[in-house]
Amino acid sequence: MKLDDVSTDLEEVLLTEPQIHDRIAELAREIERDYADEPPLLVGVLKGAVMVMSDLARELSIPVEMDWMAVSSYGSGTQSSGVVRILKDLDTDLNGRRVLIVEDIIDSGLTLSWLHANLQSRGAKSVEILALLRKPDAAKVAVDVRYVGFEIPNKFVVGYGLDYAERYRNLRGVGVLAPHVYA
Ligand code: XMP
Ligand code: MG
Repeated sequence: MKLDDVSTDLEEVLLTEPQIHDRIAELAREIERDYADEPPLLVGVLKGAVMVMSDLARELSIPVEMDWMAVSSYGSGTQSSGVVRILKDLDTDLNGRRVLIVEDIIDSGLTLSWLHANLQSRGAKSVEILALLRKPDAAKVAVDVRYVGFEIPNKFVVGYGLDYAERYRNLRGVGVLAPHVYA
C-alpha cells in the first residue's frame, strides 16, 4: 500500500518510501565497513522487522545469514509491559558469532535490552543492534543501539512492518495513526 491509499487513516506522514530507502542504503554502507572481516548473522525480530530486514539484507554487498525471533513485549494494547516472552526462537547456534539484531522500532527499550542480554548470554562474539526508528523514551533505558535510522516523535506509528491490530504492516511509508482509527 502507498501512503495515499490510507491517507484518511493517518494524522501525519513521517517517512516516505524513498526516505526509508536512502537511509537504509546509508546504514548498509556503515555495516559493510564494520563487518568487512566477518559477515554478521542478522537476527530479525518478527513481525515488525520483516520489511527493514528484507530491504537491508538486499542492499548489503556482503554475504549475511538471516535468522528470526518472535518475542512478545506488549499485551493487546500499545504500551510495553516489560515482560518479554520468546514465541519463536532462533535456529542458529550463536557461539562465536557476530550478531546484528534488526528491529523496527525502539520505544521504551525494554524489549531490546532484554533481547541483547539474552543473545549475548548464548556465547555470541558480539551483539549489536540496528533499529529503523527510535522514540525519545528509548534514551531512558541503557540500550546501546549502534545503527539508528530515524529519531521520531513519541507517537504511535504504523507502516513498513509496524502494525495497529495487524493492519498497515504492508504500508510502504511510516505515518502517525489518526485517533479515529483506534477510537
Ligand atoms: P519497547 O517499548 O520494548 O517496544 O522498546 C518495542 C516494540 O514495541 C512495539 N512498538 C510499536 N509498534 N507502533 C507500532 O506498531 C509504535 O509506535 C510502536 N512502539 C513500539 C514494536 O513491536 C517494538 O518491537
Ligand atoms: Mg516489534
